[in-house]
Amino acid sequence: MATDLAIRVEPGGMADLPDVMVAMADAFDPQYGEAWTEAQCAGILGMAGSWLLVARSGADPAGFALLRTVADEAELLLIAVRNRYRRQGVARALLAQAIGDAAADGVATLHLEVRDGNPAAELYRGLGFVQIGMRRGYYRGRSGKVFDALTFKKRLDVN
Ligand SMILES: CC(C)(COP(=O)(O)OP(=O)(O)OC[C@H]1O[C@@H](n2cnc3c(N)ncnc32)[C@H](O)[C@@H]1OP(=O)(O)O)[C@@H](O)C(=O)NCCC(=O)NCCS
Repeated sequence: MATDLAIRVEPGGMADLPDVMVAMADAFDPQYGEAWTEAQCAGILGMAGSWLLVARSGADPAGFALLRTVADEAELLLIAVRNRYRRQGVARALLAQAIGDAAADGVATLHLEVRDGNPAAELYRGLGFVQIGMRRGYYRGRSGKVFDALTFKKRLDVN
């Protein structure tokens, strides 16, 4: 899928983790404890049903989405876009590709959680995700402070 930035969104694998970590380091504020280590990403990617999408501008990593499917349910585990590529539709393109791929695979529902207060919630609401709950103290930040998570879902098997 291409955005108006000529960004390509393509399936990724273990070999793409260095590019994923470039985006991870750039995108997440460490104070909130949302980012994953490369070992955590590799651990999930090695599990059945996990999949990665990587967005690039030429060879330059712009962002990624990491997901996992179990039966007919999928979860968006992480999505991140580097600062210099923000608000140009990269995350929307990653999610459109993820939603299309998941629906084609028979996934009925896509779930995610996001830190309460993270503006990414606006991205999800704009794509038709609805909030279904809250998890108290889900994220633990660098200083030990905890942050609540909002849980969202989107039905893919209905229009
Ligand atoms: C959230 C994030 C992935 C959005 O990436 P992006 O490529 O800038 O998003 P898009 O350009 O595709 O935005 C699509 C729409 O989402 C909404 N949106 C995106 N970022 C927003 C923000 N910071 N504030 C409010 N709305 C936002 C807007 O409606 C936007 O459309 P618009 O630009 O036409 O108004 C990016 O800001 C990021 O990497 N954040 C840090 C990591 C993170 O928190 N990830 C989510 C939790 S895993």
